[in-house]
Amino acid sequence: PLVSMRQLLDHAAENGYGIPAFNVNNLEQVQAVMTAADETGAPVILQASAGARKYAGEAFIKHLILAAIETWPKVPLVMHQDHGQSPDVCKGAIGLGFSSVMMDGSLMADGKSIASYDYNVDVTRTVVDMAHKLGVTVEGELGCLGSLETMKGDKEDGHGTEATMTMEQLLTDPEQAADFVKQTQLDALAIAIGTSHGAYKFTRKPTGDILAIGRIKEIHRRIPNTHLVMHGSSSVPQDLLAEIRKYGGDMKETYGVPISEIQEAIKHGVRKINIDTDIRLAMTAAVRKFLHENPSKFDPREYLKPATAAAKAIVKQRYIEFGCEGQG
Ligand code: G3H
Ligand code: 13P
Ligand code: ZN
Repeated sequence: PLVSMRQLLDHAAENGYGIPAFNVNNLEQVQAVMTAADETGAPVILQASAGARKYAGEAFIKHLILAAIETWPKVPLVMHQDHGQSPDVCKGAIGLGFSSVMMDGSLMADGKSIASYDYNVDVTRTVVDMAHKLGVTVEGELGCLGSLETMKGDKEDGHGTEATMTMEQLLTDPEQAADFVKQTQLDALAIAIGTSHGAYKFTRKPTGDILAIGRIKEIHRRIPNTHLVMHGSSSVPQDLLAEIRKYGGDMKETYGVPISEIQEAIKHGVRKINIDTDIRLAMTAAVRKFLHENPSKFDPREYLKPATAAAKAIVKQRYIEFGCEGQG
C-alpha cells in the first residue's frame, strides 16, 4: 500500500537500518525495484525528479507507481518527489498523489544558483505547512551538494557552483541544521557531506578528506530526531564501468560512495539513501552487452529484459547492504 515516508523512516530509525530511495523514470525501473523489494521483503521509496516527470509525463509517472501498488499490494511504498524546486512544484506533486515531497531550497528555483539561508527556511516552511495538513512528509536540504573535486570541473548535473568555495562552505553546518529543523519542522533533512550527483563524483577512492562521514555524526548529535538523507549515494561499481567500456561505451575513470561508508552513515541517523546513477549504469551495461552479443535482435523487450534484471540485482544488493531485508 501507499504509506507515508515519515512512517517508513520512523521504523527505519527504531530498527537501525537505512532505506535506499530509487529514482524511476519508466516501466522497467519500477518493475526492477518492486520485484527486488518483493523478494527481499523490503520497504520501497520510489522517487521521481522533475526530469522524470518531464520524460514520462505526469500521468505516466503517477500511474506507473499506482500500477506498482496494485501489483504488489503488500509492499509498503512511498511515492516521493525528488528535488522540488519551488513550493508550487511540491503542491503539484501532492495534487498528483505523492505521499512525500522534497523542497530543495538549497538552490534557487533555477536549480543552479545557491540560495540564502533565509530563502531556504522560508520556502521549506511554506511546504511543511501545506504538506503536513495533508499527511504528506517533507524532506528539505541544507548545504551544497557537490565535492570540492567536482566543483573545479564542469559539473554535468546542473548542481555545479562557484569553484571558489571551500569544502567547509559546502558542507552542512550542524548548528545551522539544528536551527533549520526548529524553524521549518521538516521530517527529513538532506545533508551535504561531499557527495555529488551523477557518475563522476570522485577521481580517486574517497577518503575522509573528500567524504565527510564524520560530519554526519555531529549533525545527528544535534538533531537526533530528524531523519537524515544522503543524496548522490551511488557507489559507481567498477565492474559495471568495465562492462560498459568492454562493449563500446566511453566512460572516464571515476569512483562513487563506498558501501562501507554508507553503512557507517546509517549508524548515525541516515535513513534515506538516494540512488539513481547505479541503476543507470547497470541497465546501460546490460543493454550494451546484449546488443553486442545479439546484433540481429531488434525487439526492445529482448534487450530491456536483461537491463531490468541488472537493475533488479543492484537494487536487491542495496536492500540487503542497508539492512532492509524483511523490514517491509
Ligand atoms: O537529482 C538527481 C537525480 O539523479 C535525478 O536525475 O534530474 O536527470 O532525473 P534527473
Ligand atoms: P546518484 O547520482 O549518486 O545516484 O544520486 C541520486 C540522487 O541523489 C537523486 O536525488
Ligand atoms: Zn539528489
